[in-house]
Amino acid sequence: MQGNNTDALNQSVEHKHNAVILGASGGIGKALARELVLRNTDLTLFGRNQHKLDVLAQELRAEWLRTDGIQPGRGHTDSARFEGMPGRGQVSNPAGMQLSVKTIAHELVPEDAALCHFFENMLDSELRHADIYLHVLGPFLQKPLAASTLEDWNAMLFYNLKLPALCAERAARYMAERWESKQPSGKAMPGVIVLFGGTKTDTIHAYKTNAVYASAKTGLAVFAKSLAREYAGKGVAVIMICPGIVETEYVTEEQKRIWKKLMPQEAFTQPEQFARAVCDIVCSPSVLLFSGSVITLDEGLLL
Ligand SMILES: NC(=O)c1ccc[n+]([C@@H]2O[C@H](COP(=O)([O-])OP(=O)(O)OC[C@H]3O[C@@H](n4cnc5c(N)ncnc54)[C@H](OP(=O)(O)O)[C@@H]3O)[C@@H](O)[C@H]2O)c1
Repeated sequence: MQGNNTDALNQSVEHKHNAVILGASGGIGKALARELVLRNTDLTLFGRNQHKLDVLAQELRAEWLRTDGIQPGRGHTDSARFEGMPGRGQVSNPAGMQLSVKTIAHELVPEDAALCHFFENMLDSELRHADIYLHVLGPFLQKPLAASTLEDWNAMLFYNLKLPALCAERAARYMAERWESKQPSGKAMPGVIVLFGGTKTDTIHAYKTNAVYASAKTGLAVFAKSLAREYAGKGVAVIMICPGIVETEYVTEEQKRIWKKLMPQEAFTQPEQFARAVCDIVCSPSVLLFSGSVITLDEGLLL
């Protein structure tokens, strides 16, 4: 019996997932980090504020210890994707399992030399061993076209198209290499990349007050589908998720007042609820089937 438990533990360590989240210190990214910890995933969290990241890392470690890192009925315990992972109470020494939470603070700016530095010195080494890459950072801009400046265009295209596209392509390359090298052993696990669209940017629409942001996000959907196509059959799932209105700390009171009417129940999606739905897709044994999908998770928002 003891031998079986040890085998299960060893297997679990071998199958442990590794996620990189860019934009993890607040909002949707933070909720995703919390949800992935409940699914026993090692994390690298990128943000721009080291203190916020450290506080979050501490919270996550405490939460993981409180739950033994495993929630019954969630994630790997009921999923073939996590085959071999022991459920709560099945391991005689849960303390033998470790959770790794690494934090990296860096302010990203729309400038090519700074971007190259970030890639080569910070992101690349993390992506080499990530089987889940969540590119969350994507600032919103509420301005009509007539008021949008060159800086606005540069920033929106950088944060909501160029940056996520370059990061995701790099992640896909490493995931495909790992998939190919592990295929013969039968231990290959698909890599998963999630990009975040804007509200209703799953298809082409006109926008009265946020066309610059939405143009970049709609373009990102073309990129996501193209990346999925290029890496099809190589063990990489590329998925784009378009939220409705998720009540994060970045949504102002004035925006809440205006947007509330758009929600069918006049209540916003909560970050935890949204993160759970995203992670159900990410951790699905059928995740490769989702590749190339642009998925709307907006509770039927009325626009
Ligand atoms: N929330 C919604 O209702 C909603 C609706 C539609 C689409 N989306 C999309 O969903 C994604 C997540 O949205 P969100 O509202 O959670 O927040 P967000 O503003 O897109 O991302 C916040 C995260 O990115 C970090 N960050 C911001 N600027 C940065 C910079 N220049 N360099 C490094 N890190 C930076 C933040 O750090 P700090 O905490 O230090 O600022 C935080 O960790 C985005 O792509 C967004 O466009 C959200």
